[in-house]
Amino acid sequence: MYKAAARAAAATASAKGASARVVGRSAAVLGRSLSAAPGAKEEAPEPPRVYGGLKDQDRIFTNLYGEQDWRVGDALKRGDWHQTKEIMWMGPDWIVQEMKDSGLRGRGGAGFPSGLKWSFMPKNTDGRPSFLVVNADESEPGTCKDREIMRKDPHKLVEGCLLAGYAMRARAAYIYIRGEYFNEAVVMDEAIHEAYQKGFLGKNACGSGYDFDVYLHRGAGAYICGEETALIESLEGRQGKPRLKPPFPANVGVFGCPTTVTNVETVAVAPTILRRGASWFASFGRKNNHGTKLFAISGHVNNPIVVEEEMSITLRELLDKHCGGVRGGWDNLQAVIPGGSSVPVLDINDCADVMMDFDDLKKAGSGLGTAAVTVMDKSVDMIAAIRRLAHFYKHESCGQCTPCREGTGWLEQMLVKMEKGEADTREIPMLEEISRSIEGHTICALGDAAAWPVQGLIRRFQPVIEERIAGGPEQYQSEKGKYFQEAWSGEPFKNKAWVDQHGDGKAYSRS
Ligand SMILES: Cc1cc2nc3c(=O)[nH]c(=O)nc-3n(C[C@H](O)[C@H](O)[C@H](O)COP(=O)(O)O)c2cc1C
Ligand code: SF4
Repeated sequence: MYKAAARAAAATASAKGASARVVGRSAAVLGRSLSAAPGAKEEAPEPPRVYGGLKDQDRIFTNLYGEQDWRVGDALKRGDWHQTKEIMWMGPDWIVQEMKDSGLRGRGGAGFPSGLKWSFMPKNTDGRPSFLVVNADESEPGTCKDREIMRKDPHKLVEGCLLAGYAMRARAAYIYIRGEYFNEAVVMDEAIHEAYQKGFLGKNACGSGYDFDVYLHRGAGAYICGEETALIESLEGRQGKPRLKPPFPANVGVFGCPTTVTNVETVAVAPTILRRGASWFASFGRKNNHGTKLFAISGHVNNPIVVEEEMSITLRELLDKHCGGVRGGWDNLQAVIPGGSSVPVLDINDCADVMMDFDDLKKAGSGLGTAAVTVMDKSVDMIAAIRRLAHFYKHESCGQCTPCREGTGWLEQMLVKMEKGEADTREIPMLEEISRSIEGHTICALGDAAAWPVQGLIRRFQPVIEERIAGGPEQYQSEKGKYFQEAWSGEPFKNKAWVDQHGDGKAYSRS
C-alpha cells in the first residue's frame, strides 16, 4: 500500500513538474532529474525579477483549506512520507547541508537560518540524549498559520519531526501545542498514532534502522511559553519563565539535554525541501529571503485568509490577489502590522511597495516576524489599537525582569491617557523613553515585543497623538464614536428565535 501510494505521489509530483526545477548532488539518489542541459546557449540577461504568483505545483501545503482529508491515506496521496527512508539514508549531515543550501530561515519570528541552527546540535553524544522540540504555542496576536498546518496537513509536521530530529541525532520530538488549540491537538495526536501504526515512527522508523518517537504536549495557554526557554521550563513541569542564556538549549535544553526548539512551519516544510531539493526552495524569494511562506492576513481586507506565497511578494499584491484588497479600496488603508503584533506598525506610505520578506520589512522599520499581517483601515483609532496591544503584553509578562514587569504597565497607562486626550505632549517622548528602557534590557524578547508597537506608533502616528491631546478629553468624549467602534451597538438582538433557544431565553440589552 505504501509503495502504491508512493508511486502515486511520485507520479503527481512529476506531473506537477516538481523534478524539473531540481538540481543537486542528491539528484541521482532521490531520483531527481537535472534541469540544465550541458552546453546550453548563453541567454540574454533576465529582466528584473517580480516575486509572487506562486503556482499550485510549487505549494508545499496542498491541503491548507481542508479540501482533502488530513488523515494518512490522503496525506500519502499528497506526497507525504514519500522516500522518507531514502532521505534518511543520505545521512544527518547531508540533511543539514540541504537545509543550509535551501536558505530556509526560521518561521517562528526571529528568522534565524534553520540549517545553521540544526548544525549546533552535538554530533557525538556525551551520554545525554538529544531532543527536538516543536514550538506550536502560536499565541502572538494575529498569528494563526501553524494552526492551519496542524489541523489540515498534520502529517507534514509529523514527517518533519522525524527528518529534523534525525538530522539533529535526536532521540525524540516533543510538540508543545498551545492549550487553546484543543481540536488541533486531537488531530495531531491521531496523526501521530497513524504514523506509529504505519511504522513511520517508533522502532526502525520508516524502515530506516533509526528509532524515533514523537510526543504531543499541551500547554496551559500562556504567550510567554512560546519563548523557547520558557517553553522548555513548562515542558519540564515548571512555570513558563524564560531562562537566562547562555547556556543555550543546544547545549542545555529540555531535561538538561541538548535541544533545538523550532517552529511548526519550519519543521513542516523540511520534508518537501528535502524531496524537491534545496535549489528548488532557494529559487523563490530574494537572496537571503528564500522560499515560500504562509501569510496569515486578517483585519480590514475583504477576504481574510491564510495563504502560501512566494517570499518577497509585495504587500500590496498579497492583499489584492489573495484578500480581495483593502476594505473600501487601497486609499482607505491606514496602517498595517506586517509580522504579528510585536513588530512596529507601518503607515500607507510604507506599504506602497514594501516586499514581504525579512530584509525589506526591516528596511521599512518593521519586520516579517511570523508573517501575520493585520490590516487597519481609516476607521481604526491607532492609539486605541496599540494601547490594546500594550495591555496584552502587560498581561503576558512573566514578571521576572523589572523593566518588563513595571514598564509594560506604564506603557499601557500612558497610552490610555493619550487615547482619551488626557495626556500632555511632553509625555510622548517620555513614552518613547520608557519603551527604550525596556527594549534590550530584559531576559527575553517579550520586552522588545512590548516596546516595538509603541515605538512604531510614535514613529508613524505622532501627529495623531498630538491632535488627540490638543483636542483634550472633552473633544474625545464628544467625538468618541469617530474613534471607537463598538462591537455591539446595544440594540436588541434581531435573531430572537435563536436567542430564545440557545441564550437561556435571556433578551440581552445594555442597561
Ligand atoms: C514572548 C515570545 C513568544 C514566542 N512565541 C513563539 C511561538 O508561539 N511560536 C514560535 O514558533 N516561536 C515563538 N517565539 C520564538 C521562539 O523563542 C523561538 O525563537 C522559535 O520557536 C524558533 O523557531 P524557528 O527557528 O523555527 O524560527 C516566541 C518568542 C518570544 C520572545
Ligand atoms: S522580558 Fe518579561 S516575559 Fe521575558 S523574562 Fe523578563 S519579565 Fe519575563
